[in-house]
Amino acid sequence: MQLINMALIIISDRATTGERKDSTVPAVLEWCSAKPFDLVEDFIVPDEADEISAALKAALNSENVDVIFTSGGTGFAERDITPEVTKKFITKFTPGMDEYLRIKGLAVTPHAALSRGISGISGNKLIINLPGNPKAVVENLEWLTAILPHAVKVLKGPVEDKEHNYKTEQ
Ligand code: MTE
Repeated sequence: MQLINMALIIISDRATTGERKDSTVPAVLEWCSAKPFDLVEDFIVPDEADEISAALKAALNSENVDVIFTSGGTGFAERDITPEVTKKFITKFTPGMDEYLRIKGLAVTPHAALSRGISGISGNKLIINLPGNPKAVVENLEWLTAILPHAVKVLKGPVEDKEHNYKTEQ
């Protein structure tokens, strides 16, 4: 299986000020150690449009990154603006991935319905909004291992017809 390089943007007012120590980056690093995924860049920014945009731009400009994950700011709170900021960078929306993650999440908790996270393509990279809960992030990454290798391969393209067979990804 090919190696997938990820960037992770933690979006949290409290993690930025140090009021709450971030535990998502360590959880993702631990998850990656047993998977063909590498965390090559990480950022911690507050729920501010300018700072979220700057981190997204930096990750999009990084040649080494295949998939950009955000974590946090997808809920109903007044300062939750991650999907609205992400939308500005997306040229093609990928609602199937959102539906897939929400269906998987709903099997764990009905609260999965409370994430407004979106995903989409920007250039040859994917951006995927995940919730702020570290356990939810690792669960989502685990579910995404079934589809990301093929998604990234197609984005980098071209792929042969036979490579679209799901079994060839396993
Ligand atoms: N999705 C999964 N898979 N597991 C979870 O525990 N938490 C939910 C939801 N999505 C959760 C989840 C909760 S409680 C909230 S409030 C929303 O994500 C939004 O979280 P955020 O504002 O931290 O992004």
